Amino acid sequence: MGRLVIVSNRMPISVAKREGKLRFLPSAGGVATGLDSFYKSYQSLWVGWPGITLDKMRLEEIEQIGERMTKQNCHPVFLTQHEAENYYYGFCNKTIWPLFHHFPLYTSYRESFWETYERVNRTFCEAVSKVASPDDTIWVHDYQLMLLPRFLRERLPEASIGFFLHIPFPSFEVFRLLPWRKELIEGLLGADLIGFHTNDYVLHFLDSVRRLLGYEHAFGQINAKNRIVKVDVFPMGIDYKKFVSAVQEPVVQEAIERIRKKIGNRKVVLSIDRLDYTKGIPQRLEAFDLFLEKNPQYKEKVTLILVAVPSRTGVEHYAQLKNRVDELVGRINGKHGLIGWMPIWYLYRFQPLHSLVALYNVADAALVTPMRDGMNLIAKEFVATKSDGRGVLILSEMAGAAKELGEAIIVNPNNKEEVAQAIKYALRMPQEEQIERNRIMQKRLQRYNVMRWGTDFLDALSRAKRIQLELSVRKLTQETQKNLIKDYMESDNNIMLLDYDGTLVPFAEKPQKAKPDGDLIEIVDTLAENPQNEVVIASGRDRETLDRWFGNKKLSLIAEHGVWIKDRNKSWETIEPLRDDWKKQIRPVLEWYEDRTAGSFIEEKDFSLVWHYRKADPELASLRARELKDELLQLTANLNLGVLEGSKVIEIKSIGINKGRAALFWLSKKKWGFILAIGDDWTDEDLFAVLPESAYSIKVGLSPSRAKFNLDSVDQVRSLLKELAKG
Ligand code: G6P
Repeated sequence: MGRLVIVSNRMPISVAKREGKLRFLPSAGGVATGLDSFYKSYQSLWVGWPGITLDKMRLEEIEQIGERMTKQNCHPVFLTQHEAENYYYGFCNKTIWPLFHHFPLYTSYRESFWETYERVNRTFCEAVSKVASPDDTIWVHDYQLMLLPRFLRERLPEASIGFFLHIPFPSFEVFRLLPWRKELIEGLLGADLIGFHTNDYVLHFLDSVRRLLGYEHAFGQINAKNRIVKVDVFPMGIDYKKFVSAVQEPVVQEAIERIRKKIGNRKVVLSIDRLDYTKGIPQRLEAFDLFLEKNPQYKEKVTLILVAVPSRTGVEHYAQLKNRVDELVGRINGKHGLIGWMPIWYLYRFQPLHSLVALYNVADAALVTPMRDGMNLIAKEFVATKSDGRGVLILSEMAGAAKELGEAIIVNPNNKEEVAQAIKYALRMPQEEQIERNRIMQKRLQRYNVMRWGTDFLDALSRAKRIQLELSVRKLTQETQKNLIKDYMESDNNIMLLDYDGTLVPFAEKPQKAKPDGDLIEIVDTLAENPQNEVVIASGRDRETLDRWFGNKKLSLIAEHGVWIKDRNKSWETIEPLRDDWKKQIRPVLEWYEDRTAGSFIEEKDFSLVWHYRKADPELASLRARELKDELLQLTANLNLGVLEGSKVIEIKSIGINKGRAALFWLSKKKWGFILAIGDDWTDEDLFAVLPESAYSIKVGLSPSRAKFNLDSVDQVRSLLKELAKG
C-alpha cells in the first residue's frame, strides 16, 4: 500500500514574517486544523502553500522553510506576490468563495484571476508529481484546487485521486453564473471519488454535471465518457478525543478559572469564527441587541464573548466587514452597557487551542449562525468540550453541521426575532434537557470523528478504484483486438452488425445533423466492397434516412429498430405484417408531453412513434420520461405494443420487434466464420442477445451490458473498423 498525499492550499502551519523574522504559526480555518489530526495518524505527505509570498523572502529563508516543513513531511508550494493576488485573494476568495456561499453580488469574474488560478493549479500539479509515486493515494482538498484532479489525471492516468470540497456546492442556478463553470466541473471529474459534506451539495453537483456535460449518473456514479466517477457524502468530523481530553489539561483549567473569575455569575454566550461575511456576525450581533432590548432583565446577567479571527484581510469585503463589526460592537456596548458591565467582549485575534477549549467549556450557549457554511466544525467542537453535558448550541440551518446536529436549537440566521428568542430559550433551558440533547450529539460526534471520516473517504476511494478496474477488465485490450483481427483475416465469410448513432457517429442535438462524414463512408465502403463481408447497419432510424445515406452502397440495413430489413440490393420488407392504426391513439399522448416539455419532439416512423428529449431540460425531461413510460405501459397493454427506452428517447412499436430479431434474418442464412456486433444503447442489447458464443460483441461506453467487450468511444470503434478495412 502506498502513502497518502494530502494536497490543500493551506498546510497546518503557515509562515509569516514579522519584524524581519520568519514565524511559524498554526493555520486558522476548518480544513487545515481538521485534517491535521487525521494526517498525523497516517503515513502521509502534505503539499500546500505556506501562506507567504516569494518576494517577501531571501533565498536562505526559502530554504529554511523548506527544511523545517520537510521535517514534518510537508512540501511547500511557493507563490509569487502576483500569483497570491490573483489566485488566492483573486479567484479563490473573490470569485469562488462568495459565489459558492451564495453571495453573487460579492463575486468578481475577472479573467486574469481565472488565468492565474489555472496556472497555480498547474504549479501544484508539478509539485505533487514530484513527490508522489504511482501507488500513492492523492487526496486533493477544497475549492482552491478544483482543476488539480484533472491535471493530475493527465499526468498520472492510473493514480488514485480523491477530491473533497469543504465549502457548499451551490445549486445550478448560482453555479451557472460562472464563466468557467464547465472547466471547473471537468477539473473535478479528473478524480475517482468526489466528496461533499451534505447530500444537498452532492445533488447540486450531479445536477450541474448533467446540465453542463450531459453525463448521467446512477446512485452517485457518474458515467463520464470513458471513466466512472463516484460522488458521495462524507460529513467531516472532529478529533473528538482531543477536545474531550483538552478540557482536563492544567492550562485549560487555569484559563477556565481566569475567565470565570472575571465573569462571575453571569451567563456566557459565545461566538467564534474567522471574520468572514459568510458567518453572519453582524446579523448575530443585531439579534443579540434585540434580545437585550426585549429582555432587559438579562442586563448585567449575560455577556457575549465575540472572538473574530483575522482572515483574508487583503480582500475588500473583509475589511468592510471588520469596520461594520467594530462599529456594531461599539454601538451595542454603548447602548446597553452599564458601569461594571459590558454586554460584548470583543477579541479580534487568533486563539490558541487551549483558550478556545476554555471558552467553549465556560460558555452557557454558543451562537453559531452562519449565513452559509459548508460544515462548521466550531459547532462540533463546542459540543465535544461539554464534559458535564451542560451548554446549549444555537445553530444556523444554513450550516452543513445542522444536518447532523438536529438536537441543537436550529435557527434561520436571517430571522433576528427567532435568534433573539433562541438566546432566551437557551439561557432558560433546564439542565436535564441540555444534558439530554448534548449526550445524543456527543455520541454521534464521537463515533463519526475525523478519523472515521478520513478512513471512510479513503475506503470509498479504493472501492471506486476497484469498480473501475472491474469495468476495465472488459475493455477491448490490444491483445483481444489482435485476436479479433486475426479471426477476421482467417475467415472468408464475415458478418458485421453495426449500430449507427452513438456507435459510428456521435450523438447530435438534432438527429438529422448526425450525417455520415467522409471518413465513415470510406470505412464502411471499403468493408462492404469486400465480397467476403456482409455489413449490416442496424439502426433505429427510418427507411428514407438510411436509404439517403447508405442506399447506393453494398450494405444491408435494419431500420426502425428491426421493423424493416433490406438485404443488399433488394427492397425493404417488414419482418412480419404490422399494423399502424394504434398511432391514432398514442400520438395525442405523446403530443401532450411534447407540448409540456420544451425542447422535446415527436418522430413518426412507419410503424413506430418516438419521443425525443435530448435537448430538453434534463431534470424535467427525466421526470416526464418516467411519467410517460408509466402512462404508456397502461395504455399499450392491450395493443400488443412494446415501449423501448433508448438514449434520451422513448419508442413505441409492435411487441417482439427488435434489432435482434431482425439480425437473425442474416445470422441464420449460413454459418459465419466471423461475427462482430457493436452498439451503444440498450436497443442493441437485443442484438447481443441473439449472437452465438463465438461472436465478438462490443458495447460503446461503460455501463453494464451483455456484450463481451467495451470500447470507450466512437473514435475507438472507427479505428477498429479501419484496422479491419485494411485487411
Ligand atoms: C475555510 C476553507 C479553507 C480555508 C479556511 C481558512 O475553512 O474551506 O479552505 O483554508 O477557510 O481560510 P484561508 O483563506 O485562511 O486559508
